[in-house]
Amino acid sequence: MCGIVGYVGKRTAQDVLLNGLKRLEYRGYDSAGIATLDDEDNPHLARSVGKISDLEQVISEKPHTGHMGIGHTRWATHGGVTVSNAHPHNVGNIFLVHNGIIENYKELKAKLSNYDFRSDTDTEVLAALIDSNYKGDVSLKDAVAKSLKDVRGTYGIAVFSPKEPGTIVAARLGSPLIIGLGHDETIIASDASALLGYTREAIYLNDGELAVCNSNGSEVFNLNLKHLNSHPEEIEGNLEQIQKGGYDHFLLKEIMEQATTLPNTLSGRIDVENGKMHLGGPNLTAEEMRNIHHVVIVGCGTAYYAGLLASYYMEQLIPDVTTEVVIASEYRYRSFHLPKDSVALIVSQSGETADTLACLREIKKRGVKTLGIVNVVGSTIAREVNGGTYVHAGPEISVASTKAFTAQVVTMLMFAGMIAEYHGGNPDLIHSFTRELSILPAEIEKTLNDHRSEIEQLAKKYASFDDALYLGRDTAYPIALEGALKLKEISYIHAEGYASGELKHGPIALIDDRFFEVFTILDNWLFDKSIGGLHEVRARGGKVIVLTNSTADIEADDIVRINSNVKLLAPILINTLQQLFAYYVAVERGNDVDQPRNLAKSVTVE
Ligand code: F6R
Repeated sequence: MCGIVGYVGKRTAQDVLLNGLKRLEYRGYDSAGIATLDDEDNPHLARSVGKISDLEQVISEKPHTGHMGIGHTRWATHGGVTVSNAHPHNVGNIFLVHNGIIENYKELKAKLSNYDFRSDTDTEVLAALIDSNYKGDVSLKDAVAKSLKDVRGTYGIAVFSPKEPGTIVAARLGSPLIIGLGHDETIIASDASALLGYTREAIYLNDGELAVCNSNGSEVFNLNLKHLNSHPEEIEGNLEQIQKGGYDHFLLKEIMEQATTLPNTLSGRIDVENGKMHLGGPNLTAEEMRNIHHVVIVGCGTAYYAGLLASYYMEQLIPDVTTEVVIASEYRYRSFHLPKDSVALIVSQSGETADTLACLREIKKRGVKTLGIVNVVGSTIAREVNGGTYVHAGPEISVASTKAFTAQVVTMLMFAGMIAEYHGGNPDLIHSFTRELSILPAEIEKTLNDHRSEIEQLAKKYASFDDALYLGRDTAYPIALEGALKLKEISYIHAEGYASGELKHGPIALIDDRFFEVFTILDNWLFDKSIGGLHEVRARGGKVIVLTNSTADIEADDIVRINSNVKLLAPILINTLQQLFAYYVAVERGNDVDQPRNLAKSVTVE
């Protein structure tokens, strides 16, 4: 969602801010802006709706020359997509950018009736509140701290004033902020990718903290202005990882690079010879592992579907453990009960998803151990869980989640494999999973390379349909849900995923000329039942693409057969082809593949 960049140092601030905002584009936004202070302490503000390139156009007419400033990409929540609603907001002596939502902004606005508000945003109200407290000898730091005490809601903010050149005040509550510490320069950002190439050393602000930044670094305080010891950490990643690397889109790069990122997920965690899996991060004693009898997996969207697929594997590996998979936005408000012998797996690529984070906090309140299955290192969920494992998929820039799904499923599978040893799990099965995991990266590479042009042709054939139904049963069912999600979010074709055993309970009524069906049929003990579902669809005139690892004769309009040595993990392979299919359909329809309309990469508000 919204992105923040702030800079104070020796470089031209405008360039650093625009560069940083471009790195944050992937998060999704609809307008952008920067405010800078020139060397004579005059402020300059530029904002525009649309892309960063539109903002660059505005700035090119009157370039900013100073060495400090703040920038923002906005994803509208309060008020429409207009220049006056875009950040930074300027009220009196205050220039402010804000991520999050000020819930009591109406109340605050009523008390600030002497201000002439020019936008519909909650952020402008916060800027006015800070300005109202920034009088006489009061410093910017004090005014910000005092104001934030009156605020209800969430925020990551960066603020400056022409009255205090060289200083940017940043603060967070529920919305991430990282302070990058360079040589004679400090960069503030809501996402570490904006810091890459400038510095590797950063302070991750915690909720309730405020940082006073200048070119020499940063000092951290709580809102009572007590000085806090801050501990700089090394940020992960490199510039290459956040570039397209020769591909037309990040999405294609991220689909194709799964073969090279997955070894990072697996590294040091599987022992093929002895058929063992081990994750260090959960930090569970043997007794704790033996005591687990209930696993709840929490996530949203693709992370939820990854949890669903992993739950099928868990049931095979640890049959004495009850596995439950829940959608975070629902679960957080349910009166749920978790037995004391539970662990909760909190699954999130970004580690910032508001609903998932809220569940984590609810679950912790109930005294249940939480383990993160997170990609972004240092993210809020990763910091708040009791333990956990990074999935190490590397930066995922395209809004649609692809390589993170694969890494999440594999990580949860390894968690189950580790627990299985303490629950008398079937050693042969653990061995088979371990063996398949070890060859999965190579099998993904082969599958994608063997079928890429075939999938591209299929995408051209089906790109003009209005509707799609994705079907599968057992481990192909979560894949059907994920395939449909991927197609709808980037191609805008209406797509639904269904358990194929449910066809007769409703969805079969949909089948007509507007629809095509994507049916995953696995070569397993439910093969015949899946074929039964396929016949039902074809008998009603359905146009079906079958994705299968079976060599049996199957009648369909189009068949993509994968020839692979992995069987248990075949759904993961087939899902990579569904990702490719969604990608090529979106390209064929001329869509903005990496930044689909209305979507944000990291959903930090409810
Ligand atoms: C789908 C997609 C979303 C995310 C969901 C959770 O392609 O990207 O459904 O999976 O918003 O995000 P994280 O994993 O960051 O919590």
